Amino acid sequence: MNADRALRDPHDDGLNDHAREQIEASLAAHAGRPGPLLQVLHEVQDRLGYVPAAAVPVIAEALNVSRAEVHGVVTFYHHFRQSPAGRHVIQLCQAEACRAMHCEQLTQHAQRKLGIGLHETTADGRYTLEPVYCLGNCACSPAMMIDGRLYGRVTPESFDDLIAPLS
Ligand code: FES
Repeated sequence: MNADRALRDPHDDGLNDHAREQIEASLAAHAGRPGPLLQVLHEVQDRLGYVPAAAVPVIAEALNVSRAEVHGVVTFYHHFRQSPAGRHVIQLCQAEACRAMHCEQLTQHAQRKLGIGLHETTADGRYTLEPVYCLGNCACSPAMMIDGRLYGRVTPESFDDLIAPLS
């Protein structure tokens, strides 16, 4: 270990106190369970809204798995955010029934309207646009969710109407 590293605060991992507490609470909630990585990551995201990069080595060490494994899971599942979401999260279903009802056109409209792609957040931090794969609302495709509220048979026009009050 070089002198510089030896002088570093061992807890200086780039996490603030709140984030560190939430990550430790997530780890404690699943301690002793078999294969807890996914549950821990879900809980961290529920508590913080995303999984900070600085959480990866903390979780890896606590669960005795490699950083690469934790990073691999975070990046494999679209569900996990690697940066904070905007104030309003818009989730557009991309699964089969919604595809049959032209969700691609709705998605393109949403992207144009907000000026962002999927997995992106507007520069003002107002909106995050995310793909999801079946919201359980297939009979009313295409479906989307705004801040946890479900909508069906969404058209470009109704999309505009739904986000207008959020602007
Ligand atoms: S496929 Fe979109 S809600 Fe089921």
